[in-house]
Amino acid sequence: MNKALSRGCFITVEGTEGVGKSSNITFIQETLQAAGIDVVATREPGGTPLGEEVRELLLDHRHSGMSSDAELLLMFAARAQHIKQLIQPALNQGQWVLCDRFTDATYAYQGGGRGISNERIATLENWVQGTLRPDITVLLDLPVDIGLARAAIRGVADRFEKEQQAFFEQVRNAYLAQAETQPKRYRIIDASRTLEAVQQQIAGVLQLILAEQGA
Ligand code: TMP
Repeated sequence: MNKALSRGCFITVEGTEGVGKSSNITFIQETLQAAGIDVVATREPGGTPLGEEVRELLLDHRHSGMSSDAELLLMFAARAQHIKQLIQPALNQGQWVLCDRFTDATYAYQGGGRGISNERIATLENWVQGTLRPDITVLLDLPVDIGLARAAIRGVADRFEKEQQAFFEQVRNAYLAQAETQPKRYRIIDASRTLEAVQQQIAGVLQLILAEQGA
C-alpha cells in the first residue's frame, strides 16, 4: 500500500532491448507474492484487449511508414484504456501493479529515439494520467550493443527492434537522463551482470520498497 496515497504501489520496469525485462519481471512478481503482496502484472503497450490490439498495430512491420506522432498517440490511446480499465481500479483496491514499461518508455523511445519534445509528451501525460505516476521505476541498464546481441537471438524482430544501434543509444541516454532528474523514483540496475547478480540487486531494491511501504 502506498500510505501517502492510500492505494497500492505502482512499479514499472524499463530498459532498452535485450536487457532481460521478462525474466526479471517474473522474479519481481514472485518476490512480491512471497512477501504476501497481491500484485497484478501487466504491460505496455497492451494490458487490455483494446491495448493489445493497438500493440499489434504498433509492432507490425506493415506499418513501417507510421509517423512519429501517430505512434505517440497510439501509445497514449492504449495507455488511457489501460489506466481506466486495469491500473487505476487495481491500485484503488490496494493491489500493487507491476507494469512492463509505461510512460518513461514514451519519453525514451518517442522522445529520445524519435525526437518528439518532452513538452509535447508531458501534455499527453498530464491529460491521460492526471496525477497518476509510478511510485518506483526499475531501470535495467545495459550497453546497447550487448542488449541488441542478446535480443537478436530471440528471433523475428518487431518494428522497433528493426531500428539501428544509434536509435537505441538515444533511447538509453534518454532513460539515463530521466533517471538523473528523478533519483527518488528510479532504481538503476546494472543488467550487464549475470542473471543471479542482477536479481540480487533487484531483491535489495524490493526489500527497501517493502520496508518503506510497511508491507
Ligand atoms: P516490449 O518489447 O518491451 O514488449 O515493448 C514493445 C516496444 O514498444 C518496445 O520496442 C518499446 C516500445 N514502446 C515505445 O516505443 N513507447 C512506449 O511508450 C512503450 C510503452 C513501448
